[in-house]
Amino acid sequence: MLSRGVASGRALRGAARAGVRPPVRGLRGSPRARSAMPSWVIDRYGRNDVLRFTRNMVFPTIHFPNEVIIKVHAASLNPIDLSMRSGYGATALNMKRDPLKLKSAGDEFPLTLGRDVSGVVMECGLSVSYFKPGDEVWAAIPPWKQGTLSEFVVASGNEVSFKPKRLRHTEAASLPYVGLTAWSAVNQVGGLNQSNCSGKRVLILGASGGVGTFAVQLVKAWGAHVTAVCSHDASTLMKKLGADDVIDYKSGNLEEQLKTLPLFDFILDNVGGSTEKWALDLLKKWSGATYVTLVTPFLINMDKLGVADGMLQTGVTVGSKTVKHLFKGVHYRWAFFMPSGPSLDEIAELVDSGKVCQ
Ligand SMILES: NC(=O)c1ccc[n+]([C@@H]2O[C@H](COP(=O)([O-])OP(=O)(O)OC[C@H]3O[C@@H](n4cnc5c(N)ncnc54)[C@H](OP(=O)(O)O)[C@@H]3O)[C@@H](O)[C@H]2O)c1
Repeated sequence: MLSRGVASGRALRGAARAGVRPPVRGLRGSPRARSAMPSWVIDRYGRNDVLRFTRNMVFPTIHFPNEVIIKVHAASLNPIDLSMRSGYGATALNMKRDPLKLKSAGDEFPLTLGRDVSGVVMECGLSVSYFKPGDEVWAAIPPWKQGTLSEFVVASGNEVSFKPKRLRHTEAASLPYVGLTAWSAVNQVGGLNQSNCSGKRVLILGASGGVGTFAVQLVKAWGAHVTAVCSHDASTLMKKLGADDVIDYKSGNLEEQLKTLPLFDFILDNVGGSTEKWALDLLKKWSGATYVTLVTPFLINMDKLGVADGMLQTGVTVGSKTVKHLFKGVHYRWAFFMPSGPSLDEIAELVDSGKVCQ
């Protein structure tokens, strides 16, 4: 948690209710302090020893009229933060940060990790009308932007959503990145939603992780029959979250265990690797059944082969696999985390209605 005394949330909300914007933000006492903030940063890629705490990170500024500055009350870590610390995805992310290659190599440093934030809006760009200073919000910041292990972070207004009322900031910060990743895989790529999911047989591989626990609850809330694959020590949690069948992947041959069950309409793969070789055989044929994996070589290809060859390799790989499986009567898809305020609005509703917990 990173928080410190600035203009109080209550004062800001009061001013906002009265229809006036606070005249002075009063973030800090001295001009120097207003240009700097505490942050965890890295100055090069590597292991944990590259992490550095500084009180002098550049204060975020609003560059586009649709942006907001959020005071971070809580942030959380995901596996991607560890990967990014080691340089994973740097080629693609740097291309996104600087598409015209105007900056020199290493210009992404000092880099702040952390994708999740729960906090309070401090300042809004001129075209932001949906939020106002003092609003309690949550968001997952895309990995090409400065992260949330800081006192303040800037985000596009359409990446931000109102925090669920029933969660404290520390609880809320555990959800946006995994929730949006699961939402992208299940809903936007997989095509499942509240009106078509009822009774569908859904298999979730890697169900006990951040993405998996959210996905189990999401498809369960939409009425699916859920088979969760995890290690034995997570089976009680899986049952609590609503899984109908729980399979321990460490207790014998997983493929053989799953083959004894009826075929599935949808598979979410959070594990990757060898699972892809057999998991698609567990789908119903010629019925629109879909396999979605979150473990793809997209960023690694770019890191290894460069932008052009990496994209070409990625296109060939996903294209050939999609066509191969289409001929076998099933859909094969790759999914990615997608920042989205509107999707977070829907996730917040599920949380506030008690259908999903953190
Ligand atoms: N494409 C994207 O944009 C994107 C975004 C987010 C995440 N991801 C990927 O999605 C995956 C899941 O992310 P996460 O945040 O949920 O990771 P996580 O919290 O580390 O969870 C991974 C889970 O997989 C389980 N697991 C490991 N090997 C398994 C196996 N052979 N069979 C079944 N379960 C197994 C682990 O359970 P045990 O500890 O019990 O072994 C763990 O709970 C990661 O590979 C991540 O890189 C991709």
